[in-house]
Amino acid sequence: MKEASPRTIYLKDYRPPAFLIERTELRFALGEDSTQVESRLRLRRNPAAATPAAPLVLDGEDLELLSVRLDGRDLAPGEWVQDAESLTLANVPDAFVLEIVNRIKPQENTRLEGLYKSSGNFCTQCEAEGFRCMTYYIDRPDVMSVFTTTVVGEQARYPVLLSNGNPVEKGVLDDGQHFVTWHDPHPKPSYLFALVAGNLSCLEDSYKTASGREVALRIYVEPHNIDKCDHAMASLKKAMRWDEQRFGLEYDLDIFMIVAVDDFNMGAMENKGLNVFNSKLLLARPDTATDLDYERIEGVIAHEYFHNWTGNRVTCRDWFQLSLKEGLTVFRDQSFTAEVTAGTVKRIDDVRMLRSRQFVEDAGPMAHPVRPPSYMEINNFYTVTVYEKGAEVVRMYETLLGREGFRRGMDLYFERHDGHAVTTDDFLAAMADANGEDLSQFQRWYEQAGTPRVTVEDAWDAASGRYTLTLRQSCPATPGQPEKRPFLIPVAVGLLDAQGRDMPLRLAAEAQAAGTTRVLRLTEAEQQWVFEGLVERPLPSLNRGFSAPVRVSYPYTETQLAFLAAHDADAFNRWDAGEQLATRVLLGLIADIQAGREPALPERFLTAFAAVLTDAGLEAAVKAEMLMLPSENWLAEQMDVIDPDAIHAARSYARRALAGELEAQWLGLYHTHEVSGEYRFDPRDAGRRRLRNLALSYLAALDGKPMRQLAASQFEQADNMTDSLGALAALMLIDGAEREQALATFYDHWRNDPLVLDKWFALQASAQRPDTLARVEQLMQNPAFSIRTPNRVYSLIGAFAGNPTGFHAADGSGYRFIGAQVETLNALNPQVAARMVGVFTRWRRYDAGRQAQMRAELERLQGLDLSRDVYEIVSKSLQ
Ligand code: TRP
Ligand code: ZN
Repeated sequence: MKEASPRTIYLKDYRPPAFLIERTELRFALGEDSTQVESRLRLRRNPAAATPAAPLVLDGEDLELLSVRLDGRDLAPGEWVQDAESLTLANVPDAFVLEIVNRIKPQENTRLEGLYKSSGNFCTQCEAEGFRCMTYYIDRPDVMSVFTTTVVGEQARYPVLLSNGNPVEKGVLDDGQHFVTWHDPHPKPSYLFALVAGNLSCLEDSYKTASGREVALRIYVEPHNIDKCDHAMASLKKAMRWDEQRFGLEYDLDIFMIVAVDDFNMGAMENKGLNVFNSKLLLARPDTATDLDYERIEGVIAHEYFHNWTGNRVTCRDWFQLSLKEGLTVFRDQSFTAEVTAGTVKRIDDVRMLRSRQFVEDAGPMAHPVRPPSYMEINNFYTVTVYEKGAEVVRMYETLLGREGFRRGMDLYFERHDGHAVTTDDFLAAMADANGEDLSQFQRWYEQAGTPRVTVEDAWDAASGRYTLTLRQSCPATPGQPEKRPFLIPVAVGLLDAQGRDMPLRLAAEAQAAGTTRVLRLTEAEQQWVFEGLVERPLPSLNRGFSAPVRVSYPYTETQLAFLAAHDADAFNRWDAGEQLATRVLLGLIADIQAGREPALPERFLTAFAAVLTDAGLEAAVKAEMLMLPSENWLAEQMDVIDPDAIHAARSYARRALAGELEAQWLGLYHTHEVSGEYRFDPRDAGRRRLRNLALSYLAALDGKPMRQLAASQFEQADNMTDSLGALAALMLIDGAEREQALATFYDHWRNDPLVLDKWFALQASAQRPDTLARVEQLMQNPAFSIRTPNRVYSLIGAFAGNPTGFHAADGSGYRFIGAQVETLNALNPQVAARMVGVFTRWRRYDAGRQAQMRAELERLQGLDLSRDVYEIVSKSLQ
């Protein structure tokens, strides 16, 4: 446990490190009781340091220090000062060798930072500051060192011993011990260090790089999972090829290894040459993983692989620069997925997630810029803002500079900074310099939090054929930032004629029309653009492809939105127009319900919806996107005072009405979209399954025996997890024996596969039913559940926290339940606890009764002995 009120770290306080570590030699002797770590560091004073005679301060937490030697001389305990977080040596030469021996207890490590055990194997997680839990070190990303690591362990228990780089020596020792020594020639910061030891099976393959080098590829898993690695391997090779073709980036070691572990706080980790994955993002077989799992695995394998250049070869100077690697790498994995699948669907999914999560974060008490100016606990800043908004910021460079201009910027970035620890300013400078552009105003995307709003007004002058667009921007205040300066916002715009066709665009002062989409650069609070030579009044299509992460408002009528949804040449905006229309309709239904009026679906909406449903020209996956109603989360965000009951009632009503009115069409879709043949993960098949399962879920809203039987029979016949889970999800919406029957069958079949049971936990915890909390409490007693395994916590407790009718139950039972879980987790695993407490941050947006109960729970938590992680979120939420 940290001090009651932890200190805040500021970006403005950054100083270069006083010492550099040229060589790091480590020896880990792994034991059942404890592990001994010996480190030999070659240090020298940093010529760029601010203070020439500074003491050597090493980071270290929970370490049992055994000895310290300096240039071969044992130091006496009086020659160093040790406290809870550091080891200080006051008088050291300018260059020297420091040898430290210490002991740690990985088997007692429940925080899953540093060295810990998972399923009997040893593994590490060092990002962001886990290395200091293993040995004393200058644990910051701008200290880059060449590592040589020897792992010693019992041969029978730990036949596989891995670390970064290439194996250079191995051998057998006394007492059944053996060792392997690894050498990584690329200097790296400590957060990219990794070690794995265990009884693991390996899937092997190889890859020939564009320049003709052979790279050995190895995926290590527990032996019983070896039949679930093929998709990950295929994804890896696809990603390696793509990075060569799109960015000219090749892999740089002889071996690339991935290890899957069951206990992991996040998704995956890009350790140099030895990625470690949460097993849920690696293991897949048609009967255990859904299409969505397959897609996420492909995306995350690519993400971690792409980090080898964006993160590892060029790394972050300090943790404030986290988006330098994360925003850029998310942008790269999004581009990869868009290019290897159906691009529009990927874009829609990414924007849906940005709006429903990042916009919410940006409007709450934890709002922070893409480059935060301060933090208490860096682990709290692995956020949707740093990752997803960060990726949008990178995408805007590409929108502004074009695909080739962006590539020039990337090339210059690597040319300048390969092997260095740099800042987001360096990235911006590379983009600007490579293209001869002044992008200084773009800097504000990194510095200012909040979601900008762009308000659009238009005017049509029939006599001259001139059409004027006026764009105004503003950005709401966020914590610590009352005033904002204008952003450089690229707004992609098209103009539709009365037939729905794109009009050729000519701006005032241009000689002739060119293109049908223009990227307007909005740089002022207010700006105008005049389009000339038009023969009729156009309808604008704004922020095409979601060219900027902003909210756009233009006074569209419902008819105009329906028109855009039917005709816009920009497929993303067609979906977005439908989404805006549906949002408006649902907000109307919510108002009806709140006022005690009978809700009714507007005829115009029903017609537009039916037109999409029966449109034979739409690709299945895109159609599925267009037929999904806006999420309860997104609707909540649109309300001044969030009313979870009315939102749920309105959305359920709309689903039932759409199902009832269009029952025959839904059934038609269902029957015509069966996928024949063996399961393949292929965008076309996946799109058909997605649409078919969506049809089933609408039909389930009709209740009644025929629909129960339809879902039950799909459940029985499914030969893949997508259809099995689709059917089970539909049955969850219907009362009746079929539901409990199917849940029991599913459990019996998968009782020994924890990753599949996670889906079973999550479905039950997400059920919007009055007995859900009781069910969740009962499931916590299930032998498959463990509060120590993050995947179990996320699937059961996390799913309940994200269930609006469960968490926000008016009697406060959901708040008390989640508060109690946070309290337990705080002592076991602060990172996971902090993720669970996040649902309380938006308490001010609810009615007085819920506000009081959420606040009381936050205040109760604040009174406890909290980890830095949970303390930061609780205290900022109450401020
Ligand atoms: N760098 C990882 C990524 O690719 C994130 C990550 C994995 C992480 N495990 C972590 C961050 C533990 C903090 C703590 O996104
Ligand atoms: Zn990442």
